[in-house]
Amino acid sequence: MSFKNISIEKKYGIATIKINRPKVLNALNEETIKELTKAVEELEQDKKTKVAILTGEGDKAFIAGADISAMSKMTTQEAKKFAELGHNMLFKIENSRLPFIAAINGYALGGGCETLMACDIVIAGKSAKIGQPEINLGIHPGFGGTQRLPRLVGRMKAKELLLTGRNIDAEEAQRIGLVNMVVDDDKLIETAEKIAGKIASKSSFQTDFIKSLVNKGMDVDLPSACELEISKFSSSFSTHDQKEGMKAFLEKRKPDFKGK
Ligand code: COA
Repeated sequence: MSFKNISIEKKYGIATIKINRPKVLNALNEETIKELTKAVEELEQDKKTKVAILTGEGDKAFIAGADISAMSKMTTQEAKKFAELGHNMLFKIENSRLPFIAAINGYALGGGCETLMACDIVIAGKSAKIGQPEINLGIHPGFGGTQRLPRLVGRMKAKELLLTGRNIDAEEAQRIGLVNMVVDDDKLIETAEKIAGKIASKSSFQTDFIKSLVNKGMDVDLPSACELEISKFSSSFSTHDQKEGMKAFLEKRKPDFKGK
């Protein structure tokens, strides 16, 4: 499928998805959300793709939020449908077998912050600005911001950010646990690709297991979460990759994982 509002480039098992509406700082309208959702579904089926990087076109923004111009005309019913589309897209990313690395090149506001929170690893350029400024527009986040933010940074910090609409810089975002690492702007994609390459060389069985164990485990009580771990751990022992990984260690060579 060809896309109008996003672009996808694939190399070495890494798919780099760019939101491509730089004139409006990569704001998410309905069409872009549908395209990104479709792209995640398609990449999921592509056996050669092992990791995804999500970033924004240009040097100003990752995503400056949901499209305010489109939202300004929405009825209550349309707003519901729009929020549902956004949630659906973010669940697709969160539940994808592919680890998603968000590379934050500039503004990640509103839907941009909500999108990075659905990803698995977040790398920010030094000049990134992150926040949930919806309150300044007389609304609150509609793509999971009131829910994922407190789960990530704790409820006090989340409420402060949601109630004031204050944007924070990359360093503060890292301090509160919203960003894994901060790098020079011109090293952002290079760093994301380096990490993606490292993950792509692992067993894709295990990257999928680890991602889903952490995500699902966080939503249930600890004993149930540990049962999930026992189940995946034991089923790992019927994979090629477990046998290869341990054999390679004992033979003092690099493992050749096949994702089976
Ligand atoms: N939706 C629609 N258009 C947006 C947008 C959004 N979320 N964010 C930026 N744009 C558009 C602007 O309207 C402007 O369009 P124009 O050139 O036709 O006037 C263009 O992108 C450039 O933005 P501009 O505001 O001129 O850039 P800036 O550098 O002065 O400011 C921001 C950058 C990000 C601080 C500012 O654009 C902003 O506050 N955006 C909205 C952020 C937000 O509230 N997001 C949550 C939405 S729920």
